[in-house]
Amino acid sequence: LAAQNGAKPLEGQHILITAGPTREPLDPVRYLSNHSSGKQGYAIAAAVARLGARVTLVSGPVALAPPKGVDMVNVETARDMLKACETALPADVFISVAAVADWRPSISANKKLKLKDEGKTLPALSLAENPDILATISKKRKNRPGLVIGFAAETHDVEALAQAKMKRKGCDWIVANDVSGDVMGGAENEVSLVTRDNVEHWPRMDKTTVARNLANRIAVALGNPDG
Ligand code: CTP
Ligand code: CA
Repeated sequence: LAAQNGAKPLEGQHILITAGPTREPLDPVRYLSNHSSGKQGYAIAAAVARLGARVTLVSGPVALAPPKGVDMVNVETARDMLKACETALPADVFISVAAVADWRPSISANKKLKLKDEGKTLPALSLAENPDILATISKKRKNRPGLVIGFAAETHDVEALAQAKMKRKGCDWIVANDVSGDVMGGAENEVSLVTRDNVEHWPRMDKTTVARNLANRIAVALGNPDG
């Protein structure tokens, strides 16, 4: 409704969003990453901007044009994504859509690793855990956004695992999506909106429609559904 009549119910709100994958370097020419396309996060950025929010989009490397009217911060690694988010605070809402790489190579060589370094056998890949950006922002004592929303990509027990994830990370809502099918990289998504006391399953729909529905729910939660 809000979007149809051109109302700006999110005017005056600063919304911080992460999107896309992160890239974790192994050496100057190689990295660990994942298949996130950034489509869902970019669609959410566009949807909340359309409702009048000031948007900061902290994005990993994706092949998408920046949404109109959004402040972009381009990053590669999880650690840089966290830094960029902390720099962008304070925000009224934080939406963590990025598929942050859980691990990074524990050592990133500053020279290209060679197939056969003299006298060496195949290198073993040793990993270190990345910071959890969503949990870090959720648990801030100073500058915690009033509404913190995470995503949960699951292949099974989607809603139960999402509820557990929400508690563990300290966020307010989780958009749980079933990634057992072809949603990663696809145009559609099938999600459940999990809040502290409710689980709402949404039918499969376009990522743009998921984004607009979520934007409208945020406007309602901030107490300003129609502008
Ligand atoms: N997330 C994050 N920083 C990380 C890992 C995840 O901010 N280092 C955020 C994601 O943006 C998402 C939420 O946490 O909003 C859940 O991500 P997900 O990968 O589903 O959860 P994990 O806690 O990493 O657990 P697992 O991958 O084992 O399911
Ligand atoms: Ca993960």
